[in-house]
Amino acid sequence: MSTAVDSALGRVGLGRSPDAPLNGHAAPDHENGNWDEQFLPPPLRIDDYNRAQKIESRLSGLVLSGATLSRVSDVFERELERGLKEESSSLQMENTYVPELPNGTEEGLFLALDLGGTNFRVLLLELRAGQLVREDVKHYHINQALRLGPGEDLFNFLADCVQDFVRSEGMDKESLSLGFTFSFPMRQHSISSGELITWTKSFKCSGMNGVDVAGLLQQCLHARGLDITVRVLLNDTTGTLMAGAQIDPNVGIGVILGTGSNGCYMERASRVQHWEAAHARVHDVCVDVEWGAFGDNGCLDFIRTDIDREVDQHSLLAASFTFEKYIGGKYLGEVLRCSLAALGRVGLFPAVPPPGSLLTEHLSLFEEENCSGGWSRTLFVLQQACGEEARLGPEEALITQHVAQLISNRAAQLASVCIAALIRRMDRPLTGVAVDGSVYKCHPRISTLMNKYIALLAPNHKFTLMGAEDGSGKGSALTAAIAARVAANNPS
Ligand code: BGC
Repeated sequence: MSTAVDSALGRVGLGRSPDAPLNGHAAPDHENGNWDEQFLPPPLRIDDYNRAQKIESRLSGLVLSGATLSRVSDVFERELERGLKEESSSLQMENTYVPELPNGTEEGLFLALDLGGTNFRVLLLELRAGQLVREDVKHYHINQALRLGPGEDLFNFLADCVQDFVRSEGMDKESLSLGFTFSFPMRQHSISSGELITWTKSFKCSGMNGVDVAGLLQQCLHARGLDITVRVLLNDTTGTLMAGAQIDPNVGIGVILGTGSNGCYMERASRVQHWEAAHARVHDVCVDVEWGAFGDNGCLDFIRTDIDREVDQHSLLAASFTFEKYIGGKYLGEVLRCSLAALGRVGLFPAVPPPGSLLTEHLSLFEEENCSGGWSRTLFVLQQACGEEARLGPEEALITQHVAQLISNRAAQLASVCIAALIRRMDRPLTGVAVDGSVYKCHPRISTLMNKYIALLAPNHKFTLMGAEDGSGKGSALTAAIAARVAANNPS
């Protein structure tokens, strides 16, 4: 599942162009060619050369050079420092209060709640010596009315689901500890409390300003007579970090590339400004970067295209989570659709696909077919998206595959910029990066691209990208067990 890349060996062919950064991000000169060029996707190859040139020129904003990515990286580092110091920044850099990674001694029976996508999961997990020995899970659908209605309705629904679950397990009278994976940006006050900062992805519930989400869940559970205590409130990236660290002790970064995107890492506690709890004995702490909001203050406007502006305008949460809209599975299909529509409006494509007609799973399919050298499935999906009347042929399928490749390449590069910056910052002999999420799992070449780009952006550091399954479930139980261990070791 994991691919080790020794970037110092220059496996991907490193070199330095005159434009390459001099700030330590770039690799040394190497006979394998120009550093900057290694970020470029292949050209569009269709019979009509003139048309190909015009399309490339119209979409040139989606292509980022190594020099531009270096600039993004510099801005990311600056915003990261500012966020940690609680200065104005588009990066939240939230203290999660999780001070340790699993050490193989985690024990106990835990409930875990996973809220972030349209499916809500309740899990019962049992850990013995750090290993999962039991996992019961039930999925509940969260309909649009709940996702967009009053927050209180949503939390009452969550508590109803927990009640249904513990009843079905015959455990509704038992006293249980719960880990709440709440995959949205939070202002955390402790390991078990925090307020929502803003909704993202498909949620936009009202009345949640300043509300402690763990406290609200706790109230709703108690109102149902359940003896369940919310022990930890965590983000899915933290859960992924925990799940990854349980498999490989070198893991220090957790990443989600799914509907949304984000990362967390272990930071020195002394570099974190925001503490609302005693931390004299805390050496390291997990920080939730919340890179989905990177650029919301305009600091990344130099990579924003008119296509991105259109995606943003059509989104549920306009003018927010700018960076997530370049990477997240909720948006990649729409970036593709808007790109084809932009070509269609200037006569370079014979149709303007309507909103919602192309999804990220289509983009993955086009990429898959591109990798295998075919075009017929792409054409079939494209025809459905554009309508039967659209006059489409193999050339349109190849153009669509090319655009999907540009968008995938950019997403991989931007995620890699953040990961590489964290790897350089942690500066370990080997850094494991645990990654979860539908885009990472289903896109045919995202992990290959990321291995390549991280190596180019952190050339002097060894790293391992590894898929980590179910951080939101297993990671939640591990975090609850760690919280119990830390509390037992530090009685107040
Ligand atoms: C949220 C993050 C979360 C990410 C992945 C983003 O929209 O803000 O908290 O980690 O999605 O689920």
